[in-house]
Amino acid sequence: MQQILDGKALALQIKEEIANEVRQHTSRGLRPPHLAAIIVGTDGASQTYVANKEKSSHEVGFTSSVYRYPERTTEEELLEAINFLNSDPDIDGFIVQLPLPKHINEQHVINAISPDKDVDGFTPVNIGRMVLGEDAFIPATPMGICTLLERYDVPTAGQHCVVLGRSNIVGTPAANLLSRKGVDCTVTLCHSRTQNLAELTRQADILVVAIGKPEFVTADMVKEGVALIDVGIHRIADETRKSGYRIIGDVKHSEVDKLCSAFTPVPGGVGPLTIVSLLQNTLKAYKRTFKLK
Ligand code: GUN
Repeated sequence: MQQILDGKALALQIKEEIANEVRQHTSRGLRPPHLAAIIVGTDGASQTYVANKEKSSHEVGFTSSVYRYPERTTEEELLEAINFLNSDPDIDGFIVQLPLPKHINEQHVINAISPDKDVDGFTPVNIGRMVLGEDAFIPATPMGICTLLERYDVPTAGQHCVVLGRSNIVGTPAANLLSRKGVDCTVTLCHSRTQNLAELTRQADILVVAIGKPEFVTADMVKEGVALIDVGIHRIADETRKSGYRIIGDVKHSEVDKLCSAFTPVPGGVGPLTIVSLLQNTLKAYKRTFKLK
């Protein structure tokens, strides 16, 4: 029997919890939490992500603002926009949607975000705090993965967790979070230079796949009973669908799912939890602003 780690259902439940908390604060006369997003250019996937974040913000009673800038925006202009949001007391947290156009240095931009408003948890200050186990904004996707494992009671202590992919946004922070006290996995972080990859993935009790390659993980790469977390999200053409496309992950679910003790579907697994984590971080920033418990 496989347990489906249903991110969509869990996200609904947590959003209800957030909405209740927001109502408690606003009924006492406080303004609602405010999440802002900056988006540069017209990348389709980014537009969809930001639209989903905006929709979810409204669902939990947050105020949401989206600042749209054209592709030709300079790094200097973007830094100016960030400074503006850093000093706006009506905005609790904001994100700069990635990727940015090639002529803009992503790290310069991230470094300019005030750590107190960095609800993506991407700034060096928040990454440093996270690694030290201090109070921090945790990057949304790894935070969502931990929430899924915790709320679905997937055992983690002493389990061998293999993470595929070492990005700053997912793999690297996920490896850190999963090995910290309280979660207590033994973590192996694999990347493009890893040798004998399948030998390692077959040892995983928990396999986190964030490699960005459609259906990369196949049945021969997992052991029976693995708990599988698929972070991948890819849109591929499918003429049998009305939309003309379907969404697939980094795992070949048609052959792998039946081997798992638990798995995240794609779509509807990690994705909805990523957005929920962003909302949780924004609520945390808001509570800091108003010194609420
Ligand atoms: N692009 C892909 N994922 C993310 C994310 O979690 N935050 C931001 N800002 N950009 C992204």
